Amino acid sequence: MDRPAKSPLAAGAFAMGLLLAASGGTAPAAGAAPDLAAGKKHFDGMCVQCHRADAEGMPGMGMNLRKAPLVEKGSIEAIAEFIATGHRPTRDFPLGMPPNGGESLTDQDRTDIAAYLKSLVK
Ligand code: HEC
Repeated sequence: MDRPAKSPLAAGAFAMGLLLAASGGTAPAAGAAPDLAAGKKHFDGMCVQCHRADAEGMPGMGMNLRKAPLVEKGSIEAIAEFIATGHRPTRDFPLGMPPNGGESLTDQDRTDIAAYLKSLVK
């Protein structure tokens, strides 16, 4: 009867998100102002596996996000939506991009990450 609703991993990631939101001083409510530090933490945790710590990408793994049209010209919302959806495998990137980069992210997490990426290209 006491089955856990989420995997321990997802629960851990969620707890970490709360912690980061708390340490950043912003309320973790949807629609709150983007928290760049929290976005960077998320990016450094998983997105770097394909996009590298400096977001410049890796051949065959992930594209250069500092030169990405969506990051440069897209809105925070459009970038957040891309993160939620991911991308199918292509010839250049046979692994594609899993939804949420393979993690469990909240709307606020995606907004934070999108704002962090934008801050890299401006
Ligand atoms: C398994 C590797 C992988 C992981 C992990 C990954 N990505 Fe990607 N990402 C890709 C690939 C490949 C593309 C390019 C897809 C294409 O257009 O061919 C991409 C494209 C993108 C784009 C689109 C840029 C544009 O202009 O089209 C964004 C934004 C992005 N990734 C953000 C992220 C974020 C944020 C994370 C972490 C939550 C993440 N990615 C995790 C592989 C990855």
